[in-house]
Amino acid sequence: GRCWLDGRWLPLAQARVSVLDRGFLFGDGVYEVIPVYGGRPLRLEQHLDRLEASLGHIRLANPLPRARWRELLAEAVHEGGGGDLALYLQVTRGPAPRRDHAFPAEPRPTVLVLPSPLADAGALRARGAVVVTLPDIRWRWCHVKAITLLANVLARQQAAELGADEALLVRDGLVSEGSASNVFVVADGVVRTPPKGEHMLPGITRDLVLELLREAGLPCREEPLPAARLAGAEEIWISSSTRELLPVVRLDGRPVGDGRPGPLFARAWALYDAYRE
Ligand code: PDD
Repeated sequence: GRCWLDGRWLPLAQARVSVLDRGFLFGDGVYEVIPVYGGRPLRLEQHLDRLEASLGHIRLANPLPRARWRELLAEAVHEGGGGDLALYLQVTRGPAPRRDHAFPAEPRPTVLVLPSPLADAGALRARGAVVVTLPDIRWRWCHVKAITLLANVLARQQAAELGADEALLVRDGLVSEGSASNVFVVADGVVRTPPKGEHMLPGITRDLVLELLREAGLPCREEPLPAARLAGAEEIWISSSTRELLPVVRLDGRPVGDGRPGPLFARAWALYDAYRE
């Protein structure tokens, strides 16, 4: 496969970044993951809006105008061979003359676009995901889609070592989100998800799921999610661009509900599945 790096499409084996790149040295950059179905990016403008917001938070000017991003991502779909893909895009503050925490006077951002096949989450969806709760040890700006993902990586690895597919992160008694997903809980027949804030990434999939539920007249609420509420939940779901919507069937070693994907999940997934077609 090929990727777009600093202005051109290159075979992956020839794509090289300087050791002085601030993404490499400091994790000084932001990213997006955009799902593509049948060659069509899902919620492209919302992803580009979030990229713009992330760049704003790290005070890095967007290196490309919106129209150029659209063009480039269309090229990426073509490079990936169309079909179902995940487009990874990353912007770092680029190489600097020397390692210095403060910004270089004139940053030359590094831009990467990397298409890859979208892994089919169908089997995982059918069996249901296993999750564990772990402390949220991340910094306070989780609404920024920063490439600095060490705490997320450690949480996901710990989950994997416990035989789980995802970690749900708990801060001050509240569940913020997963290591790479947002979280939904069904309690008293109402779908609940934490409200947006600095504690979590404003997921594009989360917004879409909420929108689809509301259109279908299903009750849902954005409200803080006490970790204590998880144990008695009727259903738990997680959402992300790459895994779409998944039912959670086990939490910290105990079944969620009757231990099978729930009826509201089936409705939500049908809505999502129909929308992405
Ligand atoms: N992660 N929360 C975190 C911490 C995430 O990393 C992600 C996505 C989400 C879900 O956001 P969205 O629905 O916009 O994908 C929530 C991507 C897929 C990743 O890092 O690979």
